[in-house]
Amino acid sequence: MTSIRPPFLLPALAATLALATALPTLALAQQAPKPEQLIKWRQSTFQVVAWNSSRIKASLDNGYDKAQVVKSATVIAALANSGLGALFAPGSETGKGWHDTSAKPELFTNPARVGELNAAFAREAGELVRVASSGADAAAVKQQFGQLQKTCKSCHDEFRAAN
Ligand code: HEC
Repeated sequence: MTSIRPPFLLPALAATLALATALPTLALAQQAPKPEQLIKWRQSTFQVVAWNSSRIKASLDNGYDKAQVVKSATVIAALANSGLGALFAPGSETGKGWHDTSAKPELFTNPARVGELNAAFAREAGELVRVASSGADAAAVKQQFGQLQKTCKSCHDEFRAAN
């Protein structure tokens, strides 16, 4: 086997050095997503929540479908329990995700209250999964869905600007 001569070694060394300097930058980018990314994620999350809410509503309005309600409520409960607070990190108070954020500035200075509202959201979504899975009738499921919708409204009233 011939030994590797310097002309081949140099590009390899340069590539290694380039990687070594790029890696810390990549690690940093993973630790702190850009505000634009956070705003996109939270807007997307709530769009998926809304989509699943609309499927539950459709099922309650046009012939109750237990399996569909359990599936959609499970998605909402999972998102509510996914650590939504992290999507409202400092630095994302203003800016554009898919569009300008509609989070109110007060949200970022009241983490305790946001935590309470989020906990109520997660609790009522979990309760909807439980009630629907138990085989309760449509009226009982509708009642619990109403409880869940109240948690959307109370958080929006406090922390989401109408726009
Ligand atoms: C703990 C607070 C909170 C709860 C609970 C909550 N939301 Fe929201 N929601 C927000 C905030 C804040 C925004 C604005 C996000 C942004 O623009 O940065 C938002 C935005 C939205 C949007 C608009 C997303 C977009 O494209 O900009 C929809 C739709 C929505 N929420 C639906 C719901 C529904 C349906 C529920 C209940 C099943 C719910 N939300 C529960 C706080 C909440």
